[in-house]
Amino acid sequence: EKKLAGYKDGLVIPRQGRKLRSARWFNSESNPGMTALYIERYLNYGMTREELMSGKPVIGIAQTGSDIAPCNRHHLELVKRVREGIRSAGGIAFEFPCHPIQESSRRPTACLDRNLMYLGLVEILYAYPLDGVVLLTGCDKTTPAALMAAATVNIPAICLNVGPMLNGYLKNDELAGSGMVVWKGREMYAAGEINREEFVDYISRGAPSVGHCNTMGTASTMNALAEALGMALPGSAAIPAAYRQRGQCAYETGGRIVEMVHADRKPSDIMTREAFENVIVTNTAIGGSTNAPIHINAMAKHIGVELSLDDWDQLGFHVPLLLNMQPAGEFLGEEYYRAGGLPAIMAELLEAGKLRTGALTCNGETIETNVRGKGSWNRKIIRPYNDPLVPDAGFLHMQGTLFNSAIMKTCVISPQFRQKFLENPNDLNAFEGSVAVFDGPEDYHDRLDNPETPIDDTTILVMRGAGPLGYPGAAEVVNMHPPARLLRQGINALPCIGDGRQSGTSGSPSILNASPEAAAGGNLAILRDGDRLRVDLNKRSVDILIEPAEIELRRAELKANGGYNGPESHTPWQEIFRRETDQLNEGMVLRDAVKYQRVAQR
Ligand code: FES
Ligand code: MG
Repeated sequence: EKKLAGYKDGLVIPRQGRKLRSARWFNSESNPGMTALYIERYLNYGMTREELMSGKPVIGIAQTGSDIAPCNRHHLELVKRVREGIRSAGGIAFEFPCHPIQESSRRPTACLDRNLMYLGLVEILYAYPLDGVVLLTGCDKTTPAALMAAATVNIPAICLNVGPMLNGYLKNDELAGSGMVVWKGREMYAAGEINREEFVDYISRGAPSVGHCNTMGTASTMNALAEALGMALPGSAAIPAAYRQRGQCAYETGGRIVEMVHADRKPSDIMTREAFENVIVTNTAIGGSTNAPIHINAMAKHIGVELSLDDWDQLGFHVPLLLNMQPAGEFLGEEYYRAGGLPAIMAELLEAGKLRTGALTCNGETIETNVRGKGSWNRKIIRPYNDPLVPDAGFLHMQGTLFNSAIMKTCVISPQFRQKFLENPNDLNAFEGSVAVFDGPEDYHDRLDNPETPIDDTTILVMRGAGPLGYPGAAEVVNMHPPARLLRQGINALPCIGDGRQSGTSGSPSILNASPEAAAGGNLAILRDGDRLRVDLNKRSVDILIEPAEIELRRAELKANGGYNGPESHTPWQEIFRRETDQLNEGMVLRDAVKYQRVAQR
């Protein structure tokens, strides 16, 4: 294959004799009348007939940057280098916009739009004369939406992320990680340590330049995992947005997609079970976001690979944390890149025998070839496998009488938390507590500081009504801070459980993504203030300490009262989304969408 489709230094040798998909539009022998019509309008801005009918690969560029999506906005600049890469490798570029997604300002939650961007992108990739696509990713949900669509359509595809922002700094020169400063700033503001003006200044320091979040939040996680999956150039994920290497990588990505089209290297060749196993292992080593299992399982569903939350626990839990980056560690994106980026981390995993070595990647090489020998430049940032930051740092897959499925990120469980809550702080074992239950984030904000809400320093905070149905799209609200009176006593964290998500930048050891959610008939709906829960991390269980008969009684009562319902839908998409969506443990995919696979071949 490589002999027919070589790619070196921007030179692509086209595969002979194979008609590309775009020829159905631009070079149809059976229907020249339609070809004339298809070509006609692309001439009106200066494309020539010769270009369009040349038989060269036509490459889409899925643009996710815009003024409304600042995390990805730098793609408006980078796309120029992508185009030049495509052109110098002998392709033709068509840039088009995607439905924008901005994590931090989209109401009620950006995750509602992951499936909307997915749907739109599937239609574009399927319906226009495209032979391959460069997916411009970055902010949290743009990466999974793009990869889910590439999986469904299955034309050659490659990701280029926008890159993390430069490091931010606080007034005292301490690192200000995006997202982290929001959680910390809110605590300081709630405890009365800073005023409103200082609060805004404090959190603004987390966004010092173009790019996506510079912590290992969901954006850095999903883009690292796109590379681990083989769907982005090796070494590309960690390059900061403002570094020159980012523009150079954009150029190389443009060249690479042309070669991928000639080689007919499709997502289904790359996004295999082996590659997904590498993703799970890598996610633990980088201290990745709790949103990763949702998005990765969704991609697997769309490409038709079996993957479950049990796989995440079984393959990922015993892997150590190697990357010293916030929120699980200390540093930010620039140190991550300069220490060697993702290849240095995957090289450690490879040496330890943790990778499925034969997984094919976008450049036509195996993951082993891409990462072998790529050592870390700084052992403080990227640790050796046998001297990690945290051993056994993966997710636990929890089950019990409170829900069928939820996850917990163990690498963020602090020594203080272990000491205070675990029955034996030297072991990940059990704790019990009584609960304070909140119906969505508004209720939490209204009642948290109300003295009548039963919260002391042993309470478990429970958030419900925040799942895919309850708060359409599932809100990132399970990481809750204690009331001001406890914060002022120095109690900064209580255990949290909920049916919503939490931000990837949060360092809270919550039990989250509980499925089924309250609004889908889960037992979170029958929980009352003061009920006791037992959480056993070893046994992976969360149980309500009330009699089964009482549980049945409450369920019957709830049913008689019409069940647990979230707010009304406010837009057409919210209603359609709620009708079609699966739960978080199933990747929150649109149930009817999953049956459409490899649609470009239809
Ligand atoms: Fe967009 Fe974090 S808010 S990347
Ligand atoms: Mg988020």
